[in-house]
Amino acid sequence: MNTPATPAVFDRLAALSDATRARMLACLERHELTVGELQDVMQLAQSNVSRHLRALADAGWVSSRESGPSNRYRMASRDLDAGARRLWQSVREEVVRHPASQRDLARVHEVLAGRHAKSQEFFASAAGQWDKLRGELFGARPELHALLGLLDPKWTVADLGCGTGQLAEAVAPFVRRVVAVDESAAMLRAARTRLHGVASAEVRHGTLEALPLDARSVDVAVLSLVLPYVADPQRAFAEARRVLRAGGRLLVVDMLPHEHEEYRQAMGHLWLGFDAALLERWGRAAGFAGTRVHALPALPGAKGPSLFAAVLSTAARTPRKKLS
Ligand SMILES: C[S@@+](CC[C@H](N)C(=O)[O-])C[C@H]1O[C@@H](n2cnc3c(N)ncnc32)[C@H](O)[C@@H]1O
Repeated sequence: MNTPATPAVFDRLAALSDATRARMLACLERHELTVGELQDVMQLAQSNVSRHLRALADAGWVSSRESGPSNRYRMASRDLDAGARRLWQSVREEVVRHPASQRDLARVHEVLAGRHAKSQEFFASAAGQWDKLRGELFGARPELHALLGLLDPKWTVADLGCGTGQLAEAVAPFVRRVVAVDESAAMLRAARTRLHGVASAEVRHGTLEALPLDARSVDVAVLSLVLPYVADPQRAFAEARRVLRAGGRLLVVDMLPHEHEEYRQAMGHLWLGFDAALLERWGRAAGFAGTRVHALPALPGAKGPSLFAAVLSTAARTPRKKLS
């Protein structure tokens, strides 16, 4: 093992033996600052700030990271050994009591307040532009995908009438298991291709009227854009109810009542949308404890009828009373 010519503590001591550098480190202990900000805080020329930062970095006191056009510096607290930390504690105690250091720290707060004002200024001028900029940077409605992170990772989800498996694909990364069920061989082929290699997803052939799922094996069941094809939706609800665990929920996404008669011919629809009263009636008859229906906002570019999301909940399991 190569032993350094002098113990590292001497390099560290040498770097701290300058009062300006010690004051600088006191600022960088709590806050990440750029060279420009340190100039304002310590009222030094840029060349002096850079020279002191280099000495502190060489001795391992300070680390930096790139951030846009400038680097940001802060004390390398996590990389310091116990000896260096003790050394800094005793130097720090002396330094921060000094009026010059107290003035520095007060100016750090002014600099931070200035930063906040800058972002406020950006939002004040960009408020009208923000939606456009957000869409350009991150696409349409990224927050809706982010909300999937709220799903319980222990859940099993059943995508009933899964079609090509879009919903199953979106949900699969966030839950323990997704079972995608459909009766159409062509749709199942497409779903299998889409979900190939997705470990948590499984595709099964079956009908909504006799699901290939055990009773009480699922936490959430979804019927997305399926109901218009189903002759007896109440029966499909009852079958979904059978496979749900106590406390489980059925999510139905479909069309509100509309007048597109042509959908009967073009797509084989048996129902021209569904209203809340009908969904509640079917839900109650199928054994659900409650139904909440929300109309969904139309997304830009959507040409079809307005959609709703209905959540039908089962009663939660009641804990058994203890025998006394
Ligand atoms: C319009 S697609 C919707 C697919 C998917 N849920 C979505 O949101 O994109 C309707 C799907 O329901 C399936 N389907 C309709 N009636 C069904 C039934 N009784 N049993 C099983 N699948 C059914 C069809 O095969 C088709 O794949």
